[in-house]
Order: sequence, then structure tokens, then C-alpha cells
Amino acid sequence: MKTAITEMFGIEHPIIQGGMHYVGFAEMAAAVSNAGGLGIITGLTQGTPEKLANEIARCRDMTDKPFGVNLTILPTLTPPDYPGLVKAVIDGGVKVVETAGRNPVELLPPLKDAGIKVIHKCTSVRHALKAQEIGCDAVSVDGFECGGHPGEDDVPNFILLPRAADELEIPFVSSGGMADGRSLVASLALGAQGMNMGTRFIATKEAPVHDNVKQAILKATELDTRLVMRPLRNTERVLNNAAVERLLAKEKALGDAITINDILPEVAGVYPKIMQEGAMDEGAWSCGMVAGLIHDIPTCKELIERIMREAEEIIARMQAMARA
Ligand SMILES: Cc1cc2nc3c(=O)[nH]c(=O)nc-3n(C[C@H](O)[C@H](O)[C@H](O)COP(=O)(O)O)c2cc1C
Repeated sequence: MKTAITEMFGIEHPIIQGGMHYVGFAEMAAAVSNAGGLGIITGLTQGTPEKLANEIARCRDMTDKPFGVNLTILPTLTPPDYPGLVKAVIDGGVKVVETAGRNPVELLPPLKDAGIKVIHKCTSVRHALKAQEIGCDAVSVDGFECGGHPGEDDVPNFILLPRAADELEIPFVSSGGMADGRSLVASLALGAQGMNMGTRFIATKEAPVHDNVKQAILKATELDTRLVMRPLRNTERVLNNAAVERLLAKEKALGDAITINDILPEVAGVYPKIMQEGAMDEGAWSCGMVAGLIHDIPTCKELIERIMREAEEIIARMQAMARA
């Protein structure tokens, strides 16, 4: 399938694996890229520019296909070394960067000078337009369904994607709630040029996370995610567990007086324990409602081939319907 996104990134299928904290290591990105999609290493998970450079080199050893790096811009008191991370991306010869979080305007000049394509992930049409205005090449439009940070507007993809299509000139991919060939065809119908998936890619053979995480996704239904940190305007969609229930009880009890310090035990430093040790109740971890559509653990190749086969079948069925 050829779309503006496959052309822009030099990939075979219009499917992207979004950056995921403690999931987006070289093994994940290489598996997706080798399957014809665009795999993405998560920059901040690596910690330092040196470690990111090392992860990029490891990924390059595992694939000769294009892959990207996610740079999430977080509101923190001690910001990571973004210029150093950008330099590692450029020196590593990476050709695609997925930005997310805040406005990436400060990261753009060196990336653009190096000929790197930037796809900014955002959760509203106004942020997507801003990304277009500052020179991003594409956007990833992340609906309310998504795992991770859906923003504060709560607009699901059936509205958000056609709104983006009506306003944007640069190409965009759908993100949030995407799992299969139906998702891809629907995304294309709503004006996207491809789709981005997070949660679906965690439940794959190659995802470098503990099996407990994959089993938790398989067991979950679309009713099992919760929104946390809404009072802090840092809303995150996570899979429900004991820590999340504790966190929500604190939010209820403390109301508007809550601060990040009140919930540090449930959110700070929990990802390695969950993703690597499989300690599932250690804290809140991002997971999409799409868990309700995930019932198996294929390889990335099996998953992407199945999505493309299903998509082609659906399109053929629709063409037959239109002609009837
Ligand atoms: C476990 C997990 C960790 C994530 N970490 C990040 C991150 O560090 N940076 C980022 O930009 N997006 C992150 N995301 C969001 C994904 O890149 C993607 O936008 C989202 O998962 C799409 O929604 P879906 O899960 O319904 O497919 C994360 C998602 C998950 C599930």
C-alpha cells in the first residue's frame, strides 16, 4: 500500500509503532521495521545521549530498514539533555523523529538541518495545526481512546480524525485505539495516511517486556483502563490495578489540593519494575482501551501482514458493495 506516509518515511506499510517508555528498545523498533512498518526507539527511556547512541547502533545491527526515535518533551524540573539526545539521533543517522508532549519547536532546527523527518504526536486539531506551522512534516493524531496521555479535550478519533483531515495540509496518521485491518481502513476513510499503534505492539512476541505485561493486555477488556492525574492536567490512560485504585482514591480524597508528590509512590520510577520484572501492581502504566481488541501474541511480521491482508479484503468488499 502506498500513502503519503509510506512515501515520506520510505516504509512498505503505513503502520507506525509509537514510542513507548520501557518498551521502545532496539528489539521492538527493529521487529516493526523489519516487518515493513516504522519502529521507534524511545529516547528518554535510554536515559543519556550515550545510551541512546548505543541503542540506535544496536537497532542498526538488527535492521537495515528505516526506524525512528521518539523524543517526548516532558514538563520536568530537571529536563533531560535534549540537545545531547538530538545529537545522538543525528550522529546515529536516524531519519525520522517522533516528538510528543510539549511543542517541539526548539528541537526542530538541528533535526531539519540534518534532513530528518519529524512527526509530532498530539491530541488536538489546534496542536496539530501548530505542529504544521512550525515545520513538522507530519502529525500523529492521538484520540481520547489512546494509551498514555490523551490530553484534556477528550475527543475520540471518530471526530478528531475527520476534523484533522479538514484542517491539515501535511499528512497525518491516526493514533489511539488502532489494532487491526478494520482500524487501518477506517483511518484511511477518515482522512489519515496510516496508523500508529502502541498497546497492540506490546502484545507481540518481540516486545521486550515481561510476559505478565502481555498477559495483562490479553486479559483486559475495553472497560479496564482508567484516567489518572486529571486533577494535575497531566491525564494518563492506564490499565487498572491495585496501585491505580490507590491513586484514584487519593485524587478523590485530596481533590484540587493534590500535588504530584502525593502520588509519587504510584507513578515515579515504576516502569522498569512493571515492564522488566512483571510486577504488575507496582504502579500506573499506560495502556489503551484497545486492549479489548487484543487476543493474541503474534510476531510483528504476523501482525502487520494480517493487518494489511484484512485491510485489502475490507477494501475489496467495499468496492464490491459500491459497485452492486
Ligand atoms: C506502555 C506505553 C508507554 C508509552 N510511552 C510513551 C512515551 O514515552 N512517549 C510517547 O510519546 N508516547 C508514549 N506512549 C503512547 C504511544 O506512543 C501511542 O501514542 C499510544 O499507545 C497510542 O494508543 P494505543 O495504545 O491505543 O495504540 C506510550 C503508550 C504505552 C501503551
